[in-house]
Amino acid sequence: MDLVIKNGTIITATDTYKADIAVEDGKIIMIGKNITQTEGAKLVDASGKYVLPGAIDAHTHLEMPFGGTTSADSYEAGTRAAACGGVTTVFDFVIQRKGQGLIEAVEGRRTICDPQACVDYSFHTAITDLTPEILEEMKESVEYGVPSFKLFMVYKKEGLMVDDGVLAKALEKSKDIGALIAVHAENPDLIDMRIEKFLSEGKTSAWYHYLSRPEFVEAEANKRAIHWAKAFDAPLYIVHLANKEGLEEVTKARNEGYEIYAETCPQYLHFTNEVYKREDGRNFVCSPPIKGKESQEALWKGILNGSIQTVATDHCPFQSYEKDWGKDDFTKIPNGCMGIENLYPYMLSEANKGRISFNKVVEVCSTNVAKIFGCAPQKGTIAAGSDADIVIYDPNKKFVVSKENMHSDVDHTIWEGIELKGYPVMTFSRGKLVYKDGQFLGTPGHGQFIKCKGRK
Ligand code: URP
Ligand code: ZN
Ligand code: ZN
Repeated sequence: MDLVIKNGTIITATDTYKADIAVEDGKIIMIGKNITQTEGAKLVDASGKYVLPGAIDAHTHLEMPFGGTTSADSYEAGTRAAACGGVTTVFDFVIQRKGQGLIEAVEGRRTICDPQACVDYSFHTAITDLTPEILEEMKESVEYGVPSFKLFMVYKKEGLMVDDGVLAKALEKSKDIGALIAVHAENPDLIDMRIEKFLSEGKTSAWYHYLSRPEFVEAEANKRAIHWAKAFDAPLYIVHLANKEGLEEVTKARNEGYEIYAETCPQYLHFTNEVYKREDGRNFVCSPPIKGKESQEALWKGILNGSIQTVATDHCPFQSYEKDWGKDDFTKIPNGCMGIENLYPYMLSEANKGRISFNKVVEVCSTNVAKIFGCAPQKGTIAAGSDADIVIYDPNKKFVVSKENMHSDVDHTIWEGIELKGYPVMTFSRGKLVYKDGQFLGTPGHGQFIKCKGRK
């Protein structure tokens, strides 16, 4: 036995109970009352604290070339910030370049990630070039441990977009090989048409980023993707869903028995499109943009009633000087916001304030992610045999988010000044203490690649 966590209240997606946890070789080996610490084992007294499974961020973009630059957090900085926010596994996106093989792309990314990762990580691969060979290679990727693929229905100029034919082919294939297709759903033609109109009228502020891709632009693409998934009876995961009408379609499809999943993000739950009218509105520019109050309320309802299964960050930060490229033209703002260190503290604080239950937060930020993407029960819960990815949470700690107390490499945060009720005080990654009381204690290279299982 290496570690015993005593006297805490364990919270999983389904249960809340007082018990001790014993850890050995990075795994939980025992959960029970009055576990006696063996010689040499470290003791953590969690009296008055909650003991939770580490969060799993299903959606990050670390050092990703995008928007004319590269997102500001390296794997080291991003996973360091993750550890400090109670995230113990990160799903990052590998972008397949034109002509590149899927395994080649993943292995290339692993060589960058392996020496830097401070917590465990896995990947989804964004397919940008679906040749017949790549269609065949999808099966190999599933067997390799990367069974989820993302298709961008937008970002034509960036060379990431695929058309409906590609989406249909990938969905059809995914069903046979046990893969999961994820989509970024917005309508690119509508966006282009509206951007052209606004720029020609001299409407260039961040508010027009929102107006160029409002609720109906996202909803149409949500509906289209769901339509194709239904047609092929294939599972579908909609990333960063931000609008009410699209969510209604997800709910309808799920009620009809289709395996459709929806993810939303904390920035859509906390802010509304009003942020784009602010002086620093460009810092909030992400796609899909943050929507109006009605959508925000629908997203919270969707979490509560199970229509939304996961909350992830879409962490894709850029430095202020990069966001400033779009001061006079919203189309020049690199798209993406930060949040990897804020996901769990924000959601847990909402639970602590009474908006949702702690169990629900664990479910959407950890357990469901592990189940959907194929790494449960190794990840996503507190159970004997699972990895000792554990967060100790102090429900009485007050915390005000500021750039100064964050651990990423970004020079600002959209979460500046947000007051949180409760905060993580320790994070263990496979039994190793990687964060304590505001200090990062981990090491780059500790994080391991997690192979995920396909759906067959
Ligand atoms: O604005 C965003 N979301 N940037 C990251 C790339 C993406 O679309 O997920
Ligand atoms: Zn996206
Ligand atoms: Zn994203």
